[in-house]
Amino acid sequence: MNQRKKLVVGNWKMNGNKASLAEAQTMAAGAASVSPFADLAICPPATLAGWLADTLKDTGVALGGQNCHTEARGAFTGDISAEMWADLGARYVIVGHSERREYHGETDAIVAAKAAAAARAGLEAIICVGESLGQRDAGEALQVVGGQLAASIPDAIAAKPFVVAYEPVWAIGTGRTPTAAQVAEMHAAIRDGLRARIGKAAETCKVLYGGSVKPENARELMHVENVDGALVGGASLKAADFLAIAQACS
Ligand code: PGA
Repeated sequence: MNQRKKLVVGNWKMNGNKASLAEAQTMAAGAASVSPFADLAICPPATLAGWLADTLKDTGVALGGQNCHTEARGAFTGDISAEMWADLGARYVIVGHSERREYHGETDAIVAAKAAAAARAGLEAIICVGESLGQRDAGEALQVVGGQLAASIPDAIAAKPFVVAYEPVWAIGTGRTPTAAQVAEMHAAIRDGLRARIGKAAETCKVLYGGSVKPENARELMHVENVDGALVGGASLKAADFLAIAQACS
C-alpha cells in the first residue's frame, strides 16, 4: 500500500516578478483545501525568494530553490548555496534539472555534489532525471534514467530525505506527455533503482513526475502507481492551475 503523501512542486524557472506574489498568496490560501492529500512547494527565481519566504511563512506551501552551488560559501559570483536557501527557510532545492544539465553543462557528478550540498544544509534535494526524445525512440529510456539516477544520488544523502523527479526532456514545455503505461514503467524502475541504492528508505522516497503537467492531465498522471506528485513548470505560474493540479491528487 502506497502511504506516500503527494507533493506538488511549482518550478517558476526564469518567470515572475513582484506581481506574481499575488499568485503565491492565492496558492497559500488554497493550501489548506488540498492539505489532506497533497503538500505544496514553490521554487521561485532568486529575485522573488525573499518575498516568497515571507509570503509563504507558516502557510501550507514550502519554499524551494531551483538550483544551488556545491560549496557553502565563497567567491562564486552569481551563485547561491544550499546553506543560503536553508537560511531563507527553504525546505527543498531542485538539482539537476534538464535545463541545468543542458544549458549549464551539469554532469551527474555535479548533480550528485549539489544533492550532497543540499543534504549538508538540511534541505531535501529534488533530483531530476529524464531521457531525451532520441534516447526514448532508441529504446534507451530505462537505461539512461537508471544510469542518471545511480550517478546523481551521492552517498551522503542515502540516509536523509530527498525527492526524485522523473522529467522526460521531450515532455517539458512541449504539451506532450508520456502515456500512463510509460510513466508507470519508468517510475517502477526508479523505485527499484532506489531500493538497490538506499534500501528500505526507497519506500518513503517521493518520486515526482514532471513535464507538461496540467489540470487536464493531472488526475490520470497523479494516480499512476509509484507517482508521488508532480514537478510543474508552466502551469505553476497561475494559482488556479497549480491548485487544480494539487486537487487532482485526491
Ligand atoms: P513544464 O515544466 O511543466 O512547463 O513542462 C516542467 C519542468 O521543467 O519542471
